[in-house]
Amino acid sequence: MESKKHSVLIAPSILAADFANLAKEVALAEKGGADLLHLDIMDGHFVPNISFGPGVVKTVHALTPLPLDTHLMIANPDPYLEVFQQAGTTRLTVHVEVCKDLKRTVSTIRQLGMKPGVCLNPATPLSALEEILPEADLVLIMSVNPGFGGQKFLPQTFQKIRDLKHIISSQGLHPLIEVDGGIDVENAPLLIDAGADVLVSGTAIFKSKNIGRAIRNLRGIPER
Ligand code: DX5
Ligand code: ZN
Repeated sequence: MESKKHSVLIAPSILAADFANLAKEVALAEKGGADLLHLDIMDGHFVPNISFGPGVVKTVHALTPLPLDTHLMIANPDPYLEVFQQAGTTRLTVHVEVCKDLKRTVSTIRQLGMKPGVCLNPATPLSALEEILPEADLVLIMSVNPGFGGQKFLPQTFQKIRDLKHIISSQGLHPLIEVDGGIDVENAPLLIDAGADVLVSGTAIFKSKNIGRAIRNLRGIPER
């Protein structure tokens, strides 16, 4: 399992970053070994918070070559798919709970040249993925109720990841399993063992004293 730990992808969520020093924070995350940057788009309707839009995605895209993992927590994503692609998004994830025609949304994301991700809230069962799983490059499992950083990790997520891993393997599919919310140095190794491929973390990284060390700790790399 040691090798799995080191191959896990770490996606710092800039929602927790110091926006007064965003360029510096992004540079520290990049230098610290981040594999992707996670950008939380919140509209105040699907979630009870408003974060930022395509303008910030464009700014971050100009700051770093890291792939941008944009998480749309918005009530109506379809009209915005192209604007997030133009802003520099590599992976675009939508919530199954809001998509009226999820197959059309996922294929449009792919046609725009991005990798489509589908996301489940904690109360949404894995069965909601049944039809779409073969078309998704990424499945994002929320380990908190979406809307805010710094929330407490929901422990039922471990079993959900194990079950999802089993479904994916039994169908011979290969979407990445990404987990998002309340991830820290305690639960990260357990999530990796359960089958997570990508860990999103905001508070544990950007509120730490050393961003690079926080990223290495999530990967399970002991400090030299
Ligand atoms: C929550 C967001 C998460 C959050 C993660 O709605 O989707 O990406 O920013 O931040 P932490 O790691 O602080 O829970
Ligand atoms: Zn997120």
